[in-house]
Amino acid sequence: MAEQKATNVHWHEGDITREHRAKLLGHKGATLWFTGLSGSGKSTVAVELEGILNEMGVLSYRLDGDNVRMGINKNLGFSAADRTENIRRVGECAKLFVDAGIVTLSSFISPYREDRDAVRALHETAGMDFIEVFVDCSLEAAESRDPKGLYKKARAGEIKNFTGIDDPYEAPTSPEVHIRTDQMSLEEEIELILSALRVRGIIQ
Ligand code: ADX
Repeated sequence: MAEQKATNVHWHEGDITREHRAKLLGHKGATLWFTGLSGSGKSTVAVELEGILNEMGVLSYRLDGDNVRMGINKNLGFSAADRTENIRRVGECAKLFVDAGIVTLSSFISPYREDRDAVRALHETAGMDFIEVFVDCSLEAAESRDPKGLYKKARAGEIKNFTGIDDPYEAPTSPEVHIRTDQMSLEEEIELILSALRVRGIIQ
């Protein structure tokens, strides 16, 4: 939990609420939190889903590990403390997006259960839907895909603390959605996620 450093700060409520924005957009926001190994398919699924939601008239936005690490989180590396701070900041950003009414697709390895649970608590305390999507894939399959050639480098010792090689990945124990990208088709995976959005009344 990050420390509150600033003192003498006060929350300033506006006149327009989350409900007003949901009415304007025709749907409420929610966070879909994709977690899994590098190369498991988090971004692939999120990109596909973003296209489908767009066609349905649902406003969504992707927050992606590699992209965010080139901007707001460019000062963070891959130590345990930096990964925790990465997820904390992204969790706060996702919460802002949901408050704005957007279906937020967050794709981060987010290897630590405690960090993901903190983001979940942040959302749930604010009455927001947080849907954890475990993008499950064997290390062997992720490594054989190796879309960025990073596993090869990690095996050669050129990248240290690489998740799954010499850094941990703590799998979710009870994710809302569990997809197996080394066993299921992209269509099947998308359908599972869409039905999780439907049962929560986020999409029709
Ligand atoms: S997280 O662990 O803090 O959630 P994040 O999802 O933002 O990670 O970034 C992961 C991406 O950074 C990977 O997909 C990969 O492209 C790149 N990367 C570079 N170094 C590492 C590393 N040591 N471990 C994992 N991913 C790395």
